[in-house]
Amino acid sequence: MPLVFEIHATRADAERVVAEEIAALVRAKPTAVLGLATGDTPTGVYRELVRLHRETGLDFARVRTFNLDEYCALAADDAHSFRSWMNAQLFGHVNLAPAHTHLPDGTVADAELERHCRAYEQATEDAGGIDLQLLGIGRNGHIGFNEPGADVYTRTRRVELHAWTRADAAHAFGGIERVPTAGITIGVATILAARRVRVLAFGARKAPLVARTLATEPDSAWPASFVRLHADARLVVDRAAAR
Ligand code: PGA
Repeated sequence: MPLVFEIHATRADAERVVAEEIAALVRAKPTAVLGLATGDTPTGVYRELVRLHRETGLDFARVRTFNLDEYCALAADDAHSFRSWMNAQLFGHVNLAPAHTHLPDGTVADAELERHCRAYEQATEDAGGIDLQLLGIGRNGHIGFNEPGADVYTRTRRVELHAWTRADAAHAFGGIERVPTAGITIGVATILAARRVRVLAFGARKAPLVARTLATEPDSAWPASFVRLHADARLVVDRAAAR
């Protein structure tokens, strides 16, 4: 099936629909494996999942999560790490077991890097594979830290961050010079191995990125275009991003 393009009237509507899909998955399969993303884009989905947990008892006790990526050279408890961000947005507010939440370890020594990346891939497979992968689209078309040039065969690895990726993070870090220069990301092939892929894009600044994702044949110059190769991928947007 080609990439499904799903337009909602508002961002909140889109977030509710995606959160409800995740909730339905978790209710049907209490051991579901979720592929999670950081950034502004998924915040409302996480807020809605927290609400469903509190108000309807949505149970994450047996759910496993794997995040897309993490910065290198930041300790896990660094306020700017994606681990800290996930704790603040989701992990700290639902009954996910800490041992069931996985992010790459950006502090791993060079000598251990390859083993760590292989183990991260293996852990997703041992968990049964990712049931649903959430994605945002970066200004340069990246998915995870799969920056332009990343091909469809890439797996979990260390990457140098693109100048725009670092520029977009500069505000959060209080200056671009403080943004790490590298990260560890799952690969395009890892993302495409998920059973479902849900790409979210909200607001007018995402409209050109959405247009390019829909118009581009799968190509490493625009890594988000690779989701078009997936059999169950949806690009979920609000009206502003659809323009
Ligand atoms: P954003 O980032 O959600 O903060 O816009 C998207 C991304 O870089 O993947």
